[in-house]
Amino acid sequence: MSLVLDGLVKRFGAVTALDGISFEVPKGEVFGFLGANGAGKTTTMRIVLDILRPDSGIATWEGTPTTHVPRETWGYLPEERGLYPRLQVLDQLVFFASLYGIPRDVAATRAREWLARLRIPDYATRRAEELSKGNQQKVQLIAAILHEPAVLLMDEPFVGLDPVNVALLKEAFGEMRERGSTLIFSTHQMEMVEELCEAVALIDRGKLVLAGPIREVKRSTGRRVVRLALDGKTIEAGTPDGGATSIPWLDSIPGVRVSRAGQDYAELEVPRDVDPELVLRTALEHGERVTNFLIADPSIEEIFIERVGRPPASAEEKHLAGSVSAPAAAGSAAPVRAASEPPR
Ligand SMILES: Nc1ncnc2c1ncn2[C@@H]1O[C@H](COP(=O)(O)OP(=O)(O)OP(=O)(O)O)[C@@H](O)[C@H]1O
Ligand SMILES: [Mg+2]
Repeated sequence: MSLVLDGLVKRFGAVTALDGISFEVPKGEVFGFLGANGAGKTTTMRIVLDILRPDSGIATWEGTPTTHVPRETWGYLPEERGLYPRLQVLDQLVFFASLYGIPRDVAATRAREWLARLRIPDYATRRAEELSKGNQQKVQLIAAILHEPAVLLMDEPFVGLDPVNVALLKEAFGEMRERGSTLIFSTHQMEMVEELCEAVALIDRGKLVLAGPIREVKRSTGRRVVRLALDGKTIEAGTPDGGATSIPWLDSIPGVRVSRAGQDYAELEVPRDVDPELVLRTALEHGERVTNFLIADPSIEEIFIERVGRPPASAEEKHLAGSVSAPAAAGSAAPVRAASEPPR
């Protein structure tokens, strides 16, 4: 069973944010939700969490409309981060867990475990506002997972984290996945997708571009990438006399172009109807010494650029709004609409 989105449409006035989005997230998988700024990722997540209602279409989890799924099913790391600035970290975590009916002592134990795991155990009794932005983000992630949700939706969880914390978060992903959680996250960092995700959906301006297991998505493009290095020769794109590449015999293979010229090897794009091995055979026929030859699938980044027409935007420049901000944001940390006030 799985999370199924079926024909989601959402309009904000004249803007159609979602224009018939349908795809499926298999249970227990790590799923990447991709799209340029404004594509509709956050809107989709909010609909799944029943924070927003769609104009039409439906989302179901294991066959039940998400509007009728118990809310403890979900964990949510919202795009706008927000903790209660004055509240101590541990108290805050216990409070969020209590909204899901987790007893105080259980919540405190779990919170301490997670704080240790994410290497901020000493911050348990500090006020949230005293923590750095990245550390606040880790606290907010803990707030989203203390009740051990079946599905965890994370809106750009890696934004603003340093490399050590990125590694810690990846470890945490692994752990949650082993417990059987379904992990859905949006990101503009395609290397995270390559590394972590089993399946993806890519949307653009409210429309689905592609969805499915990464391997199938890559295969379905029909494109192959060849990595090639020749002893003593540099492979470059284009020549002054009009050649497509700096290697004349390579130009004899129709449609082959250099997509990336590198120091160690060049990446060649080979059209669908050309067998990539032809590149190797032709090289050898021309007496080249081939020091590197690899047939690869296109990267998710390349597929994104090809299908969306521009590279994934850097989320870093986009937001990083004040993370110790307001109960409104804290209310969405746990998808609690009528956000209760925290205990004093
Ligand atoms: N509350 C709202 N009122 C009006 N328009 C909205 C609202 N929320 C989203 N939109 C619009 O819907 C579209 C999709 O926005 P959404 O926030 O879902 O994109 P996104 O994929 O999350 O983008 P980003 O990568 O920048 O976070 C955008 O055109 C946005 O301006
Ligand atoms: Mg967003």
